[in-house]
Amino acid sequence: MIVTTATHADLPGIMALEDAFTLSRWSEQSWADEIDADCRLTLVEKDAAGAVRGVATFSAVEDVADLNRVVVDAGARRSGIGRRLVLAGLEWAEALGAQQMMLEVEAGNAGAIALYEQVGFVALARRANYYGAGADALVMALPLGRES
Ligand SMILES: CC(C)(COP(=O)(O)OP(=O)(O)OC[C@H]1O[C@@H](n2cnc3c(N)ncnc32)[C@H](O)[C@@H]1OP(=O)(O)O)[C@@H](O)C(=O)NCCC(=O)NCCS
Repeated sequence: MIVTTATHADLPGIMALEDAFTLSRWSEQSWADEIDADCRLTLVEKDAAGAVRGVATFSAVEDVADLNRVVVDAGARRSGIGRRLVLAGLEWAEALGAQQMMLEVEAGNAGAIALYEQVGFVALARRANYYGAGADALVMALPLGRES
Protein backbone atom coordinates (compact mmCIF):
# COMPACT_ATOMS: atom_id res chain seq x y z
CA MET A 1 0.00 0.00 0.00
CA ILE A 2 1.36 3.43 -0.88
CA VAL A 3 0.24 6.97 -0.08
CA THR A 4 0.35 9.32 -3.07
CA THR A 5 -1.05 12.69 -4.06
CA ALA A 6 -4.46 12.25 -5.69
CA THR A 7 -5.12 13.10 -9.33
CA HIS A 8 -8.35 13.31 -11.33
CA ALA A 9 -7.74 9.69 -12.39
CA ASP A 10 -8.47 8.72 -8.77
CA LEU A 11 -11.92 10.37 -8.72
CA PRO A 12 -13.93 7.18 -9.52
CA GLY A 13 -12.17 5.33 -6.69
CA ILE A 14 -12.67 8.25 -4.32
CA MET A 15 -16.38 8.45 -5.19
CA ALA A 16 -16.77 4.73 -4.41
CA LEU A 17 -15.46 5.49 -0.90
CA GLU A 18 -18.02 8.30 -0.56
CA ASP A 19 -20.72 5.60 -0.43
CA ALA A 20 -19.77 5.38 3.29
CA PHE A 21 -21.70 8.61 3.82
CA THR A 22 -25.45 8.84 3.84
CA LEU A 23 -25.45 12.42 5.13
CA SER A 24 -23.02 15.08 3.94
CA ARG A 25 -21.82 13.13 0.90
CA TRP A 26 -19.28 15.08 -1.16
CA SER A 27 -19.82 15.36 -4.91
CA GLU A 28 -17.24 14.43 -7.51
CA GLN A 29 -16.92 18.15 -8.27
CA SER A 30 -16.09 18.85 -4.61
CA TRP A 31 -13.29 16.27 -4.72
CA ALA A 32 -12.04 17.60 -8.06
CA ASP A 33 -11.92 21.08 -6.52
CA GLU A 34 -9.93 19.74 -3.54
CA ILE A 35 -7.41 18.12 -5.89
CA ASP A 36 -7.02 21.30 -7.96
CA ALA A 37 -6.96 23.95 -5.23
CA ASP A 38 -3.85 25.77 -4.11
CA CYS A 39 -2.81 25.27 -0.48
CA ARG A 40 -4.62 21.94 -0.38
CA LEU A 41 -3.36 18.39 -0.34
CA THR A 42 -5.42 15.36 -1.28
CA LEU A 43 -3.81 12.01 -0.54
CA VAL A 44 -4.90 8.53 -1.54
CA GLU A 45 -3.69 5.16 -0.37
CA LYS A 46 -3.93 2.44 -3.02
CA ASP A 47 -3.56 -1.32 -2.81
CA ALA A 48 -1.19 -3.39 -4.97
CA ALA A 49 -3.81 -3.52 -7.75
CA GLY A 50 -4.08 0.27 -7.79
CA ALA A 51 -7.51 0.46 -6.16
CA VAL A 52 -8.09 3.47 -3.90
CA ARG A 53 -8.51 2.20 -0.31
CA GLY A 54 -8.44 5.53 1.48
CA VAL A 55 -8.47 9.26 0.83
CA ALA A 56 -7.87 12.35 2.93
CA THR A 57 -7.78 16.03 2.16
CA PHE A 58 -6.10 18.88 4.01
CA SER A 59 -5.76 22.63 3.62
CA ALA A 60 -3.38 25.18 5.07
CA VAL A 61 -3.79 28.94 5.30
CA GLU A 62 -1.01 30.83 7.04
CA ASP A 63 -0.38 29.08 10.34
CA VAL A 64 -3.57 27.02 10.55
CA ALA A 65 -4.14 23.77 8.70
CA ASP A 66 -7.39 21.81 8.47
CA LEU A 67 -8.14 18.16 8.05
CA ASN A 68 -11.16 18.42 5.78
CA ARG A 69 -12.09 14.77 5.24
CA VAL A 70 -10.74 11.24 5.61
CA VAL A 71 -12.50 8.13 4.32
CA VAL A 72 -11.32 4.51 4.24
CA ASP A 73 -12.92 1.67 2.31
CA ALA A 74 -15.24 -0.20 4.69
CA GLY A 75 -13.46 -3.49 3.87
CA ALA A 76 -10.02 -2.09 4.69
CA ARG A 77 -10.63 -0.32 8.00
CA ARG A 78 -8.58 -0.90 11.16
CA SER A 79 -5.47 -1.67 9.14
CA GLY A 80 -3.79 1.70 9.67
CA ILE A 81 -4.79 3.44 6.43
CA GLY A 82 -6.60 6.34 8.10
CA ARG A 83 -3.72 6.85 10.50
CA ARG A 84 -1.13 6.84 7.69
CA LEU A 85 -3.12 9.38 5.67
CA VAL A 86 -3.60 11.71 8.65
CA LEU A 87 0.08 11.48 9.65
CA ALA A 88 1.15 12.29 6.07
CA GLY A 89 -1.14 15.33 6.08
CA LEU A 90 0.29 16.49 9.41
CA GLU A 91 3.81 16.21 7.98
CA TRP A 92 2.78 18.30 4.96
CA ALA A 93 1.19 20.98 7.14
CA GLU A 94 4.17 21.10 9.46
CA ALA A 95 6.55 21.48 6.51
CA LEU A 96 4.47 24.45 5.33
CA GLY A 97 4.92 26.08 8.72
CA ALA A 98 1.43 25.53 10.12
CA GLN A 99 1.27 25.82 13.90
CA GLN A 100 -1.81 23.67 14.37
CA MET A 101 -4.25 21.44 12.54
CA MET A 102 -7.97 21.75 13.20
CA LEU A 103 -10.93 19.55 12.28
CA GLU A 104 -14.63 19.15 12.89
CA VAL A 105 -16.17 15.74 13.42
CA GLU A 106 -19.66 14.53 14.19
CA ALA A 107 -19.75 13.97 17.94
CA GLY A 108 -21.23 10.47 17.49
CA ASN A 109 -18.50 9.30 15.10
CA ALA A 110 -16.62 7.25 17.68
CA GLY A 111 -14.29 5.57 15.18
CA ALA A 112 -13.08 8.83 13.66
CA ILE A 113 -12.72 10.48 17.08
CA ALA A 114 -10.64 7.50 18.29
CA LEU A 115 -8.35 7.85 15.25
CA TYR A 116 -7.96 11.60 15.79
CA GLU A 117 -7.23 11.15 19.49
CA GLN A 118 -4.70 8.43 18.70
CA VAL A 119 -2.65 10.82 16.57
CA GLY A 120 -2.91 13.58 19.18
CA PHE A 121 -5.97 15.72 18.44
CA VAL A 122 -7.78 17.11 21.48
CA ALA A 123 -11.41 18.30 21.57
CA LEU A 124 -11.65 22.08 22.03
CA ALA A 125 -15.35 22.82 21.63
CA ARG A 126 -18.73 21.33 20.78
CA ARG A 127 -21.06 22.94 18.22
CA ALA A 128 -24.67 21.97 18.84
CA ASN A 129 -26.68 20.71 15.85
CA TYR A 130 -23.85 21.59 13.45
CA TYR A 131 -24.66 18.65 11.16
CA GLY A 132 -28.45 18.92 11.63
CA ALA A 133 -30.86 18.37 14.51
CA GLY A 134 -29.19 16.31 17.24
CA ALA A 135 -25.90 15.94 15.35
CA ASP A 136 -23.33 18.02 17.18
CA ALA A 137 -19.80 18.70 15.95
CA LEU A 138 -16.64 18.41 18.00
CA VAL A 139 -13.92 20.88 17.09
CA MET A 140 -10.53 19.23 17.59
CA ALA A 141 -6.99 20.60 17.31
CA LEU A 142 -3.44 19.33 17.30
CA PRO A 143 -0.44 21.65 17.82
CA LEU A 144 2.37 21.41 15.25
CA GLY A 145 5.95 22.62 15.13
CA ARG A 146 6.49 21.92 18.81
CA GLU A 147 10.26 21.65 18.50
CA SER A 148 10.67 25.12 16.98
C1 LIG B 1 -12.66 6.97 10.63
C2 LIG B 1 -11.92 6.14 9.56
C3 LIG B 1 -11.34 7.09 8.52
C4 LIG B 1 -10.76 5.39 10.26
O1 LIG B 1 -9.94 4.79 9.25
P1 LIG B 1 -9.13 3.42 9.54
O2 LIG B 1 -8.21 3.21 8.40
O3 LIG B 1 -10.06 2.33 9.88
O4 LIG B 1 -8.31 3.81 10.85
P2 LIG B 1 -6.94 3.14 11.34
O5 LIG B 1 -6.93 1.68 11.01
O6 LIG B 1 -5.80 3.94 10.86
O7 LIG B 1 -7.10 3.30 12.91
C5 LIG B 1 -6.10 3.91 13.71
C6 LIG B 1 -6.61 3.90 15.15
O8 LIG B 1 -7.79 4.72 15.27
C7 LIG B 1 -8.71 4.10 16.18
N1 LIG B 1 -9.91 3.66 15.46
C8 LIG B 1 -10.12 3.71 14.12
N2 LIG B 1 -11.38 3.26 13.83
C9 LIG B 1 -11.94 2.93 15.00
C10 LIG B 1 -13.21 2.41 15.35
N3 LIG B 1 -14.15 2.15 14.43
N4 LIG B 1 -13.47 2.19 16.65
C11 LIG B 1 -12.54 2.45 17.61
N5 LIG B 1 -11.30 2.92 17.33
C12 LIG B 1 -11.01 3.18 16.05
C13 LIG B 1 -7.96 2.92 16.77
O9 LIG B 1 -7.24 3.39 17.90
C14 LIG B 1 -7.03 2.54 15.65
O10 LIG B 1 -5.90 1.83 16.07
P3 LIG B 1 -6.00 0.21 16.27
O11 LIG B 1 -6.73 -0.35 15.09
O12 LIG B 1 -4.57 -0.19 16.35
O13 LIG B 1 -6.78 0.03 17.53
C15 LIG B 1 -12.86 5.08 8.91
O14 LIG B 1 -13.53 4.38 9.92
C16 LIG B 1 -13.89 5.68 7.96
O15 LIG B 1 -13.63 5.85 6.77
N6 LIG B 1 -15.10 6.00 8.46
C17 LIG B 1 -16.16 6.54 7.60
C18 LIG B 1 -15.85 7.95 7.15
C19 LIG B 1 -15.71 8.90 8.31
O16 LIG B 1 -16.48 8.88 9.24
N7 LIG B 1 -14.67 9.77 8.22
C20 LIG B 1 -14.38 10.76 9.25
C21 LIG B 1 -15.17 12.01 9.07
S1 LIG B 1 -14.79 12.84 7.55
